[in-house]
Amino acid sequence: MIRTVEPGGALHGSLRVPGDKSVSHRALLLNSLTGGTARIRGLLDSEDVHATRGAVQALGVTVRADGPDWILTAPERLNEPEDVVDCGNSGTTIRLLTGLLAPLDLSVVLTGDHSLRRRPMGRVVQPLRDLGVCIDGRDHGNLAPLTLRGGTVRPGASHRLSISSAQVKTCLLLAGRKEGTSVWEPRDSRDHTERMLRAMGAPLRQAADRTWHLDPVEHLAPLDVDVPRDLSAAAFWLVGGSIVPGSDLRLPGVGLNPTRAGVVDALQRMGARIEAEPVDASGAEPVANLRVQATALRGTDIAGDLALRCLDEIPVLAVAAACAEGVTRIRDAAELRVKESDRIARVVQGLRSLGIDVEEYPDGMAIQGGAFKGPGQVDADGDHRIAMAFAMAGCITPGGVQISGAHSIGSSYPRFFDDLASLRGSA
Ligand code: S3P
Repeated sequence: MIRTVEPGGALHGSLRVPGDKSVSHRALLLNSLTGGTARIRGLLDSEDVHATRGAVQALGVTVRADGPDWILTAPERLNEPEDVVDCGNSGTTIRLLTGLLAPLDLSVVLTGDHSLRRRPMGRVVQPLRDLGVCIDGRDHGNLAPLTLRGGTVRPGASHRLSISSAQVKTCLLLAGRKEGTSVWEPRDSRDHTERMLRAMGAPLRQAADRTWHLDPVEHLAPLDVDVPRDLSAAAFWLVGGSIVPGSDLRLPGVGLNPTRAGVVDALQRMGARIEAEPVDASGAEPVANLRVQATALRGTDIAGDLALRCLDEIPVLAVAAACAEGVTRIRDAAELRVKESDRIARVVQGLRSLGIDVEEYPDGMAIQGGAFKGPGQVDADGDHRIAMAFAMAGCITPGGVQISGAHSIGSSYPRFFDDLASLRGSA
């Protein structure tokens, strides 16, 4: 699918962005382990979450719609799926499932689309093998399809991750749930799993050195989840609202978990006018109403902890940086190269094609702020966040930006282009 986004005036109004993708996956997966029934409100309706829903259904979980909510009922024991489980484009689905399945005496084959089958799975396969799980895949176990036969997991294993990753951390916590385990990572990745596991009654704590210790879990209680709205989806509008002159947007009920709210911090450091008013939310996740108004931005440095806390938002932050005065340096973001596409290469190519001066680093880039020259063309390479980031660039590029591979937005934000039209229409 090719979409062209052209300048269309300021972005105005109030927009309810879709449900949080990370929390949606976890609401389905963790509730599947409870043997009980839970109500999930605000679940993201997108292809990645459909993949997780399909996977838990293949394991014998019932998931039915009740108006806008979903009611999930888990069996006492999960079943062996009859067929291969297709995780689509979703890295979170496949990596979390390997951990969920590790202690279960089931044979399962996990696969995904062309992009997912290129992404590194060794980071979960190797530690699971060390625990005694029988797991393999193409390229000596580094690539899906993965075949997995779970069973007894070595008790009390302690893991030290070389790269911070919420997907790997979650995989290993889930794999060790029956026998107890601990996981340390160099920097704290997003902690949605830990919050949800604790809310379900799991004996999980974080030590002073930041290691997560999980004692053997006897029982996980079903948890009704109110999924906050997705900050990663809101990020496109935070940038659009900042760079499209005259914009003024409100984004109510957005999850503002500090382990992944770096996009707000980064934009504020760039001078963005963003207000966050905390909402008294009852769930495990902090929530805020956001407002953004257009203003001039200046370049900044994004590295270390901050880079991890806004990793998924770096493509759209790079678009903001291209409109800022001065240079923005992004470092410590090498993981971007193994996401749905090589996001460093895609962003560098895309910005250069719009006339922006960018230097590429192995782990990031330096962007010299300037003005977009159009009409431009960008290939999203089947990557939803690249497509949406360059749609924001299109809003201020003379002649617009033509985005190929725009169908990929279905992974996380199927209504993205409708929301863009409505924000322009209500001006
Ligand atoms: C996710 C974790 C992050 C993030 C991804 C979603 C999750 O990846 O980039 O989009 O829901 O656990 P890492 O595993 O690299 O932290």
